[in-house]
Amino acid sequence: MAKQYYNFLNGKWTRPHSKVYFDNINPADTSDVVGRFPESDGEDVEKAVRAAEAAYDAWRLFPAPKKGEIMMRAGQLMMKNKEKLARLMTREMGKVLAETRGDVQEAIDMAFYVAGEGRRLTGETTTSERKNKFAMTMRIPIGVCGLITPWNFPMAIPSWKIFPALICGNTVVFKPAEDTPASACEFVKILTEAGLPNGVVNFVCGGPNTGELIVRHPRIKLISFTGSCEVGRFVGEHCGRTLKRCSLEMGGKNAQIVMADANMDLALEGALWGAFGTTGQRCTATSRVYIQRKVFPSFVRSFIRQAKKVRIGNGLKPNAQMGPLINAAQRERVHNYVVRGVKEGAKVECGGKFARGAGLGKGFFYQPTVFTNVKPIMTIVREEIFGPVVCLMSIKDLEDGLRQANDTAYGLSSAIYTGNVNSAMKAIRDLEAGITYINGPTIGAEVHLPFGGVKNTGNGHREAGRTALDIFSEWKSVFVDFSGRLQKAQIDTD
Ligand code: UN1
Repeated sequence: MAKQYYNFLNGKWTRPHSKVYFDNINPADTSDVVGRFPESDGEDVEKAVRAAEAAYDAWRLFPAPKKGEIMMRAGQLMMKNKEKLARLMTREMGKVLAETRGDVQEAIDMAFYVAGEGRRLTGETTTSERKNKFAMTMRIPIGVCGLITPWNFPMAIPSWKIFPALICGNTVVFKPAEDTPASACEFVKILTEAGLPNGVVNFVCGGPNTGELIVRHPRIKLISFTGSCEVGRFVGEHCGRTLKRCSLEMGGKNAQIVMADANMDLALEGALWGAFGTTGQRCTATSRVYIQRKVFPSFVRSFIRQAKKVRIGNGLKPNAQMGPLINAAQRERVHNYVVRGVKEGAKVECGGKFARGAGLGKGFFYQPTVFTNVKPIMTIVREEIFGPVVCLMSIKDLEDGLRQANDTAYGLSSAIYTGNVNSAMKAIRDLEAGITYINGPTIGAEVHLPFGGVKNTGNGHREAGRTALDIFSEWKSVFVDFSGRLQKAQIDTD
């Protein structure tokens, strides 16, 4: 019998009103049920909102440095339990242990980084037009925040949302993706153990219906969502109509440019990691590689040779390099893109099939897939696939590379490999993306820098970094008039 999990409302593990549960399955071995989780309904969401509202005033007024201390303790607990958390995450999500350790590490980094914000959260003091008048800005919290997170970074992405939301004084209704609620549940347990008061973070499991109930809840003041463009559009539309604050972090179709003057071994290694790390299931994944004509044939040859060598397997096995896709539907989706690519005239150089073999029979494994003969109008080069599928294309020169890299609806990450500082500087200036890497792959952003993208990737917000605070707080301008008389701004002249 699989382990039974519950929602966490007002500091208590609570059975769902809906009485409905779903199974969370190991994508590397479908016979392994990680747990049964609540499919929460409107009543469950309502209870979570009520608890978050009730906790709001005390939490808002709790000193921010003390809030930071709770986060510090949460980070330390994650450090202590890192291996256990990583193993559970690999079991429920599939990516290899080295990567799930990295995921937990990213949450630890975020805990420590935001904990320090507790002693900053700075505003500005400034001048006034009038005599004996003081002016400053300060951050104020927003209220109850609905945080909806994806499955590809089961602890890192919740940490990007929960810690900044809390340090600013908000309370939270947190719904993780239905593919990774166990890691989210551990996250919540750690917050509680670290001393977070009851009701400050409320954890509600479920699928898209539960998510929609959170988005539509009239007393949730802010939605922070990471996931698909399709769902993001719905969230943005609804929040637009109801004037709800909303931050969206969506797809990517990230390009790496390889110039002939680059260190080829490094460029190759970076492209392979960018394309097949996390089985291509990162919004920062490299799905397009633009290689200068002169070095194109040799780069493609080496890339294919290496792609064929990627060791596919259960992420808990020490020698596995690439785990499964997250679920059956995602594997179908990835495969449909591959079929479409072939139909549109691209050439599969390797992969393009479900991966079979010893130990792979019960998981959603897919072969690393490399396309050449790709034209800019093809679906595989335009849409986010979220799988181990990469297009290799040749470019004439830097200008051609920049133009093609920018010819996309998305703009999260980008990379260029070059030994020429002028090319690097032009790429930094001209690549239309929220992240640009020089001589490094498109994946691997660090938490103390802003994370987010331009175009259809987002709606102008940046997670992580200090910019995350701008999502989770409002600015207040404060004037203190100590002249003892009525001073009329813009009107008085003396
Ligand atoms: C994501 O793919 O949704 O930069 C997040 C990276 C990681 C985070 C990725 N630090 O690849």
